[in-house]
Amino acid sequence: MSKLELRGIYHSFPVKKQRVSVLSNITLHVNDGEFVSIIGPSGSGKSTLFHIIGGLLKPSAGEVWLDDVNITGRKGLISYMPQQPALFPWRSIESNVVIAQEVAGESRSSALEKAREWLPKVGLGGYERELPHILSGGMQQRVSFLRALLSPQELMCLDEPFGSLDALTRQDMQAWLLNIWEQNKRSILFVTHSIEEALFLSDRIYVLSNKPSTVLEELKIPFSRPRQESVMLEPEFQKLRLHIQAHLRKEIIYDKRH
Ligand SMILES: Nc1ncnc2c1ncn2[C@@H]1O[C@H](COP(=O)(O)OP(=O)(O)O)[C@@H](O)[C@H]1O
Ligand SMILES: [Mg+2]
Repeated sequence: MSKLELRGIYHSFPVKKQRVSVLSNITLHVNDGEFVSIIGPSGSGKSTLFHIIGGLLKPSAGEVWLDDVNITGRKGLISYMPQQPALFPWRSIESNVVIAQEVAGESRSSALEKAREWLPKVGLGGYERELPHILSGGMQQRVSFLRALLSPQELMCLDEPFGSLDALTRQDMQAWLLNIWEQNKRSILFVTHSIEEALFLSDRIYVLSNKPSTVLEELKIPFSRPRQESVMLEPEFQKLRLHIQAHLRKEIIYDKRH
């Protein structure tokens, strides 16, 4: 079981003797086995929110709850894929995958066994002993994703995992992620810039405003599962896309005026 709840999260950073408010009263949740996305303008505090969920940053106010336990400020309880792949250049691909399992106390041999089973499934068979620098951006993302997937925590937080990929690779990765998720049904909190990506993948979407960001809207996504790429052609998909786009546009125009 894995249910995440953010209750009234506020955060501000000290900048030149002042405090800049980034998050303002963020309340949201991810139910057990649910795929939830957050969409918000760049700089609205999405990565900051993930750092708070992961316990790397203590919020100025508010609480993080996991399965009815207050985990605010506690590390190691969620699996986290950062915006940049963050691979150790001197460790082989398989050693990079097992880091999170090792930190969580799993034996190296059993962690390696799982990594070797999974690497071919993500198109990285034959690269187990290579160093990360020989991989393309998309392949490095898959290593980073696999690390998060195989780490034992049930909730995965993915921070714009496909942001640096070209459009075609990105579509492949989305379909691939969906396929893996539909087999595992871990709870996922997913940050993205792309409205289509969020609509294609999610059960629910939270739309954030500019900073200090608040939840502008929570949307339930009605499409059935397993989801096919053809869902993007449905009139309802286009309607939701335009609806979210209108929200975000307002935010971006507002940002330019200030
Ligand atoms: N350590 C920090 N000190 C000061 N300001 C920060 C710090 N980290 C992030 N910020 C600011 O907080 C805002 C939100 O950042 P971030 O969470 O990275 O946004 P997003 O991930 O939505 O693009 C930005 O304006 C950023 O400059
Ligand atoms: Mg970010």
